[in-house]
Amino acid sequence: MQAKLTIDPAFRVGPVRRRTFGSFVEHLGRCVYTGIYEPSHPSADEQGFRGDVLDLVREMGVSTVRYPGGNFVSGYRWEDGIGPVEDRPKRLDLAWHSLEPNEVGTDEFMAWAKKAGIEPMMAINLGTRGVLEAMDIVEYCNVPGGSDWAEQRRANGADEPYRVKMWCLGNEMDGPWQMGHKTPEEYGRIATEAARAMRMIDPDVELVACGSSSRSMPTFGEWERIVLTEAYDQVDMISAHAYYWEKESGLQEFLVSAEDMDRFIDQVGATIDTVAAARKTDKRIGISFDEWNVWYLDRDPSKPPSGDDWPVAPRLLEDNYSVADAVVVGNLLISLLRHTDRVWSANQAQLVNVIAPIMAEPGGPAWKQTTFHPFALTSANASGEVLRVIVDGPTIESTQFGSVQALDAVATWADGEASVFVVNRHADEAVDASITLPAGCSIKEAVTLHHDDHNWKASAEDDSSVGVTPNGTAAIDGGTLTVTLPPISWTMITLSTQ
Ligand code: AHR
Repeated sequence: MQAKLTIDPAFRVGPVRRRTFGSFVEHLGRCVYTGIYEPSHPSADEQGFRGDVLDLVREMGVSTVRYPGGNFVSGYRWEDGIGPVEDRPKRLDLAWHSLEPNEVGTDEFMAWAKKAGIEPMMAINLGTRGVLEAMDIVEYCNVPGGSDWAEQRRANGADEPYRVKMWCLGNEMDGPWQMGHKTPEEYGRIATEAARAMRMIDPDVELVACGSSSRSMPTFGEWERIVLTEAYDQVDMISAHAYYWEKESGLQEFLVSAEDMDRFIDQVGATIDTVAAARKTDKRIGISFDEWNVWYLDRDPSKPPSGDDWPVAPRLLEDNYSVADAVVVGNLLISLLRHTDRVWSANQAQLVNVIAPIMAEPGGPAWKQTTFHPFALTSANASGEVLRVIVDGPTIESTQFGSVQALDAVATWADGEASVFVVNRHADEAVDASITLPAGCSIKEAVTLHHDDHNWKASAEDDSSVGVTPNGTAAIDGGTLTVTLPPISWTMITLSTQ
């Protein structure tokens, strides 16, 4: 099978945004406790943060981390997580049926974020709380001093304000599983009022309104229209969340999941434009794709864990990812990059232990899932401008999306260097790709993630026998690059353009 791809700097979509490479730390399962934080771990630093996990977060090239939830935030009292740790209350977390010890809160997260070199993105509770608490936490985080909350932060050891820019106005407020979930009219009002007050405290904040919790929600579209009609002037982005997994429809259908993300972004973008046109405004609003990933275990939010036991940091949502899952993750990143004009920020959900690219055993090793690799390499090598890549090759007949290209690709173009990210989504067939490029390009590196057993999964014992390996078929002749892409594979080719 053969395909032709065309890369041309004229096909510019927009800038590569560092915020595309965000992640997510929720107080859920072992993401925080025995994930990023485990004071008794041999690698822990003086603040209790696992050094081995921090190293992997840096290696992964994570730009932004959303915190502290997720469903957790809709029952969270942020004040529980500040001040002397021994005075902090233990609370029932209804979202995940766990006991929250509050040993990690806002100040600890900010300290961790600084060590990890990431930008914090905070979510406020607009489920069971409201405008006042939103004002309080912005004051605590961003006001230099003089007011009560700002002085409390200083007394808690942070003399300088955190100056958190991005704030999520609640989480999945359309979901009936959510504490305090709302109608779009109710949510539009409270989001607008919270946003107005937060901006009065810090005019530099960038605010994200909740969009639908998935494209399959019955209210999808209407929710966005109503919320934006109310909140347009006060917000900068609207969120989108999407999780994919192999269903009864089978592997081939799963492999083209990014087609759903493409449509999701296009539809939310169209709603933004419709609302903007109706309001006769030139103000642009972006999409914050602040939860996306492959997710299999315990994934029905209407059936949370239950019973008399309220454990601290139970093992929840500890998915173990295959090579096929990693190819889908790589494809989702291609989709996000391709929509850089619409998607201004994105967060893979989540970072450690919970549907995560990084796993960490209590007292034991931290290791990389298969999904770590496409994320780390795309983050490290996408720079400059995003270029749309035209693909003309074999197609797959999808029951959901009709006829779609087996290959999907995006390129980035910077001064003197370029990168091509391409997936072969065909379940059985290799594809020989012939890529037309501007003259003068030479190959720096060509690597592929593939395994004859697409179900291969990494483990604490072996996270490296399958990874990304050099693709020896890549060659360049004049303005044409040729490369063979095995079935179910993700490939990155970096180029020198001079
Ligand atoms: O990421 C896991 C959960 O998925 C989050 O808590 C919630 O926002 C979403 O439903």
